[in-house]
Amino acid sequence: MAATIIDGKAFAAEVREKVAGHVARLKSDHGITPGLAVVLVGEDPASQVYVRSKGKMTREVGMHSVEHKLPANVAQDAVLELIDTLNNDPEIHGILVQLPLPEHMDEKRVVNAVSPAKDVDGFHISNVGLLGTGQKSMVPCTPLGCLMMLRDHHGDLSGMDAVVIGRSNIVGKPMAQLLLGDSCTVTMAHSRTRDLPDVVRRADIVVAAVGRPEMVPGDWIKEGATVIDVGINRIEVGEKTKLVGDVHFDSTKDHAGAITPVPGGVGPMTIACLLANTVTACCRAND
Ligand code: GUN
Repeated sequence: MAATIIDGKAFAAEVREKVAGHVARLKSDHGITPGLAVVLVGEDPASQVYVRSKGKMTREVGMHSVEHKLPANVAQDAVLELIDTLNNDPEIHGILVQLPLPEHMDEKRVVNAVSPAKDVDGFHISNVGLLGTGQKSMVPCTPLGCLMMLRDHHGDLSGMDAVVIGRSNIVGKPMAQLLLGDSCTVTMAHSRTRDLPDVVRRADIVVAAVGRPEMVPGDWIKEGATVIDVGINRIEVGEKTKLVGDVHFDSTKDHAGAITPVPGGVGPMTIACLLANTVTACCRAND
């Protein structure tokens, strides 16, 4: 049976519409406009594209959007000072420091300088600890978007076998925590996992987040399984470049139960969840 193609683009548009409604009510009923500040250090082209897109969508849902662009050679202390100013700015409810940072910076130090209450990325060590112990936290946007698509497709995930491929702090680890929170039986697979194809073949849910183009072939995927492809990889095809995921789409789409496409799957959900997290941070700040 052909897989259901999970339309992340359409789902993200629905999430943004709900966020816009929430923002409108916060403005009309409470006189509060949620505000998101994005800090970009350096000129990484991909980061510039993401930051521009985040700013545009923030404004589209009616939120206050601030962008701080700093040169790649800026001193780390200047970034820490800016974060401190934003932490104390009552008009700013969410702060995102675009990663990666230039090599001379201590990423952990910068990320942990953001107030946990304004940490809409969910990367601060306090939020990581809260999520890991099943407590209320800010949840990283990409895994949150994946979870929303899985819940929307399946309803209850309880008891399902889930395999997360990739153990990054940004996606793999928080994804595993979220699936565990929804009572899945979770396996975290990575580059040292033995018999990876067999591990993946057992899964009802496969989340691929390794950043390697089409690394997971269709014959690793169990008949009827749901595949969430987090990869966004640019490959050369002849003269052109093409975006592909971590999963080989064409050999998967005819026997998986459902699959997210690349582009148009997980990607749009990430920014929608960033906007939703900013509204959550704003509501918690004004509780
Ligand atoms: N760079 C790539 N993905 C992300 C993300 O989710 N958040 C931030 N801050 N930087 C990123």
